[in-house]
Amino acid sequence: MSPTPKRPLRSQEWFGSADKNGFMYRSWMKNQGIPDHEFQGKPIIGICNTWSELTPCNAHFRKIAEHVRRGVFEAGGFPVEFPVFSNGESNLRPTAMFTRNLASIDVEESIRGNPIDAVVLLAGCDKTTPALLMGAASCDIPAIVVSGGPMLNGKHQGKDIGSGTVVWQLHEAVKAGHISMHEFMSAEAGMSRSAGTCNTMGTASTMACMAEALGTSLPHNAAIPAVDARRYVLAHMSGMRIVEMALEDLRLSKILTREAFENAIRVNAAIGGSTNAVIHLKAIAGRLGIPLELEDWTSIGRGTPTIVDLMPSGRFLMEDLYYAGGLPAVLRRMGEADLLRHPGALTVNGKSLWENVREAPIYNDEVIRPLAKPLIEDGAICILRGNLAPRGAVLKPSAASPHLMQHRGQAVVFEDFDHYKSRINDPDLEVDANSVLLMKNCGPKGYPGMAEVGNMGLPPKLLAQGVTDMVRISDARMSGTAYGTVVLHVAPEAAAGGPLAIVRDGDWIELDCAGGRLHLEIDEAEMAARFENLQARKPPERTGGYRELYIDHVLQADQGCDFDFLLGCRGAEVPRHSH
Ligand code: FES
Ligand code: MG
Repeated sequence: MSPTPKRPLRSQEWFGSADKNGFMYRSWMKNQGIPDHEFQGKPIIGICNTWSELTPCNAHFRKIAEHVRRGVFEAGGFPVEFPVFSNGESNLRPTAMFTRNLASIDVEESIRGNPIDAVVLLAGCDKTTPALLMGAASCDIPAIVVSGGPMLNGKHQGKDIGSGTVVWQLHEAVKAGHISMHEFMSAEAGMSRSAGTCNTMGTASTMACMAEALGTSLPHNAAIPAVDARRYVLAHMSGMRIVEMALEDLRLSKILTREAFENAIRVNAAIGGSTNAVIHLKAIAGRLGIPLELEDWTSIGRGTPTIVDLMPSGRFLMEDLYYAGGLPAVLRRMGEADLLRHPGALTVNGKSLWENVREAPIYNDEVIRPLAKPLIEDGAICILRGNLAPRGAVLKPSAASPHLMQHRGQAVVFEDFDHYKSRINDPDLEVDANSVLLMKNCGPKGYPGMAEVGNMGLPPKLLAQGVTDMVRISDARMSGTAYGTVVLHVAPEAAAGGPLAIVRDGDWIELDCAGGRLHLEIDEAEMAARFENLQARKPPERTGGYRELYIDHVLQADQGCDFDFLLGCRGAEVPRHSH
């Protein structure tokens, strides 16, 4: 007999009654060989699995689920594993972001409609973490995140290479004529040589760190490599802990507070995290009605140095971060410098963030740098506004070139991604190192899906001259593994009537990161006239299906790109009987 839960287990609404309904709910479950006593008031723990062979980063999740299951049994719960839509960053077209909200709906309705008292969220590849947290938050039941963990360090020609980051680097080297296509291709197998997510501080690692910083996972969840046995111990312990959480009724809303998000914003700066976190944290917060504004990223994040020296901003990889002490070591260093905004924030193990990390050992000052020797003095995501981005834009300073963060240059305009591809290799393209590459129609509605195309590759002729970075501006996102002085998430996007739409070749643009300003140097009258004369671009094709739902309902980047009708928490009240 399990200890008395703090509030009645919702699963008992299915399995607890001696009548026709109880008969049906239990009987069909019994076809899996489940004995009577498993239905006797035990917490039923959902294991929400984003396993898929098409999401290679999550392809080892059945093994992780098995270890969660063992922990649930050990603690006296009953595990039920269920699949949800799996957002694989590498394969899914037009972009995994297009289906993040779809997956969140799947998660939410799977939880609410089923006899589940608490849930373990198996997340890995970029969008799977926010999708799972968004869906679970809208139900607000006890939940714990178990991440799949990063791949081992990539190895190529005797060097460590990082997921994604090396692709951008080598591709530029090919275009500049420094290496052959054969050499480029030979890095493929060495980059991805074990199970797990990208080993750089890309979006997957960033979101795993966010999950840990928010308090939604056990300590060390973010960095233990996917193939390290300790990852499976963590899965087991998470399985044990979620049973207690079900009994304690420790729901997500008690963990995911405004304080938790403020902590996460600081941690993102300290780790040199992905710009995608700005969108995903907003979307998760939106499911619980927690206010989170773009300006919070500067007002709260500003002054937090980047101390984690990982690619793409720095030198090392996630495996190194774990051996250096993992995220707990980073949090300890931040806490000792008074940089943890809310050390008392509650985490899933029932302890505060600070209690969990205050004695965390730090083994390597190169990987987790002392505050006095940061990688970047101020790692806060830069939020930009101005007549070119009335509702904001973002830039990641740790991935940018300091000399370009204050810049004035003339625009080279691409109407969309296809236009960019058709123009960028043209030797006659009028462009120099001071130009600003500006791309339109790659935002949430315009692409659709806001693909990671914002880190436009540079013109080959400039690469050949040794140019390594230029200011780039778009309404797109970029991969967390990418780098450069790249202004992203311009809102409103061109396809939603944003001012990007009226920029022309040769216009002067000013970027001022310190001042938070992105300015198109034309006067208001000229701007109004251009809007007036703007030839309506053919709207995205109405093809029906999910794509149409997406275009009609997706919110802009500053609002987290959730669907308008998904905002808020709808709770986990047990729905009516099915028969
Ligand atoms: Fe899946 Fe990077 S592509 S984590
Ligand atoms: Mg990515």
